[in-house]
Amino acid sequence: MGIKIEGDLFYIETENSSMIIERRHSDLLLKHLGKKISHYHFSNTVHERDHAFSGNPDPNVRTYSYDTQRQVLGVHGFGDFRHSALVLQHRNNDLSQFKFTQARIIEGVAEAGGLPNPYSAQGAETLELSLFDQVSQTSVKLYYTTYPGESTLSTFLRVENHSQETVVLHRILSAMCDLPAAPYDLISLQGAYAREKTVRRQAVEQGIFSISSNRGASGHSQTPAMILCDSQANDYYGEALAFQLIYSGNFQAFVQKNQLNEVRLGIGLNDDNFAWELKPGQSFDTPVALISYSDQGLVALSQESQSFVQDHIIPEKFAKQERPILINNWEATYFDFKKEKLLDLADKASKLGMELFVLDDGWFGQRFDDNRALGDWWVNEEKLGGSLNQLIADIHAKGLKFGLWVEPEMISEDSELYRKYPDWAIQVAGRGHTYSRNQLVLNFANPDVVNFIKLTFDDILRRHDIDYIKWDYNRNITNVGNGSSYLETKMQSHAYMLGLYEVVDYLTKKHPDVLFESCSGGGGRNDLGMMRYFPQVWASDNTDAISRLAIQYGSSYLYPTISMGAHVSAVPNHQMGRITPLETRGHVAMMGNLGYELDLTKLSQSEKQEIAEQVKRYKAIRATVQKGKQYRLLNPYQAANEMALQFNDDQQVVVTYVRILSTIETMETTLKLKGLDPAANYRLVDEDKLYSGAELMYAGLTMALPQGDYLSRQLYFVKEN
Ligand code: DGJ
Repeated sequence: MGIKIEGDLFYIETENSSMIIERRHSDLLLKHLGKKISHYHFSNTVHERDHAFSGNPDPNVRTYSYDTQRQVLGVHGFGDFRHSALVLQHRNNDLSQFKFTQARIIEGVAEAGGLPNPYSAQGAETLELSLFDQVSQTSVKLYYTTYPGESTLSTFLRVENHSQETVVLHRILSAMCDLPAAPYDLISLQGAYAREKTVRRQAVEQGIFSISSNRGASGHSQTPAMILCDSQANDYYGEALAFQLIYSGNFQAFVQKNQLNEVRLGIGLNDDNFAWELKPGQSFDTPVALISYSDQGLVALSQESQSFVQDHIIPEKFAKQERPILINNWEATYFDFKKEKLLDLADKASKLGMELFVLDDGWFGQRFDDNRALGDWWVNEEKLGGSLNQLIADIHAKGLKFGLWVEPEMISEDSELYRKYPDWAIQVAGRGHTYSRNQLVLNFANPDVVNFIKLTFDDILRRHDIDYIKWDYNRNITNVGNGSSYLETKMQSHAYMLGLYEVVDYLTKKHPDVLFESCSGGGGRNDLGMMRYFPQVWASDNTDAISRLAIQYGSSYLYPTISMGAHVSAVPNHQMGRITPLETRGHVAMMGNLGYELDLTKLSQSEKQEIAEQVKRYKAIRATVQKGKQYRLLNPYQAANEMALQFNDDQQVVVTYVRILSTIETMETTLKLKGLDPAANYRLVDEDKLYSGAELMYAGLTMALPQGDYLSRQLYFVKEN
């Protein structure tokens, strides 16, 4: 495992996979990306022949073409007709021919500057491959890092301008790979506001399929990730590769099948409306991409990604720290609250065994609705019936931690801040604003804004005993351009992200004990970039248990459960109008980090009793759900009317089964459990029955349910020693 250089071959070896690159005619050719091969002898090498209409860089070698070789960078303008990883404008043209100059092995993780990087405890190794383009006098360095015990590698590019002139990057991907012709499927996570992360699978056909965002955020509708698998692969069979970007802004990912059926995959910054100037001596680092591999199907790929994210992306302090069960006042009160109501909610929450009280939107400035006051981050003491410190002390006195909602990247036109600094909002002079939720976006490309936000929120956190922050972001970025905005039009979006990462890096390092949750109207920025700083994400504003089945399924496809907030809310559900049993709402939320978001003061005695039992149960299974292995048993897309998920650790097993609509005259589903010790016994706690692991895995369990819609079962097993 690690990096190996043998002659002209570079091996990037993870626990279970190899990426093998050959240096040939000073070009870098991709020989293999897949299951581990320790000694490679060109068995699968491209059969070189004279392909019609595929150009040759050397007139004497009509069989060597950039159009047919498998590459990791792509050559722009010299006959590789596929999307290349890099388009660099130098003087009046954007041709470039980067030739290999040297390779170096570096101990540890090479870091992309100013961007979120994976971290590693020990034993990581990096390969640096340097290339140079003589004409533009620019260099490219490719970095590939491996991590002990992981089947995931990370990669990014660094471009350096060694010339005396400014060059402009028009496209720069973080990872590009060419794979041999074969039947592939592609899986991406798509959706919209309130239905995030729908898993979409499709065949890879000739042409280009791409996903992207130009919203200034990764967005609800696309996730910066693509899975390429063999077309026969399923949850427990076949090879699959996941490509993910550790970035939260405008991105693109594409798969391209060319005229010869070869497949190129690329992921990186979106080049739509992007151009980055590099003055002499300047350099540019791309966001980091991850490439994970499994030869045991899609569940193993998910487990690989989940564990990599938990161990190398989520801030170390929180990676394995169990999350508190929270009560959030948003759907209970919206903007309409007073101190008495908040304390009443907290009192009930504490009696029911909850652990964290989160005060959502509406506690600051003149924020009586969502039309105003963003930017005015002073406590509205009239509304809070005193100081924030007093409220926090009262909440703490009830045995609850205290959390606070903020939305630092925004400014309302109706705010003191806007009246003072109108040009801090992203805008183009003379063009007016585009409103969304009646708010504007602060220009995080402007260092004055970045400093103001750092000081403001550092001050709030220093002066108050806050345990948790919910960092919201409720619109996308428009009106990007010159004028009063800080930077050149086409540099703005990425510069914004660099400013944002500077802020969140600063605040999370200064306040390392605060648990930050990222939110963007739910999952509008549920990506690895934000997760590198904020260990938890509010996966969706849609709290309906049935809608949540697909949202949570998609959210945990690549991300660990411990990153995902999931709340029990009131019925009829505020987003869907659906009425589901409290038991099902509890079971579904317990497949993530359990929280409650409803008016606890309006519960009946039996509802209180049921919620107290849910909280007690969650405390018993929390470690297994948040830190155990996740197995998908019934996929809501294939099974259509059912879904089942299992979590295992060494001690316990938790299975959740949900049947959406009642059925008649069909046999009950039998669930075969996964990953158990066949020789061990497992006690089904609620029924006090003992089964062997073998029986649960090979015979399975019958999922009997009474008649009725939206019903569920939660099976909690304890392993007998
Ligand atoms: C959108 C979030 O997703 C909600 O949970 C809530 O915090 C509101 N914003 C508050 O404005």
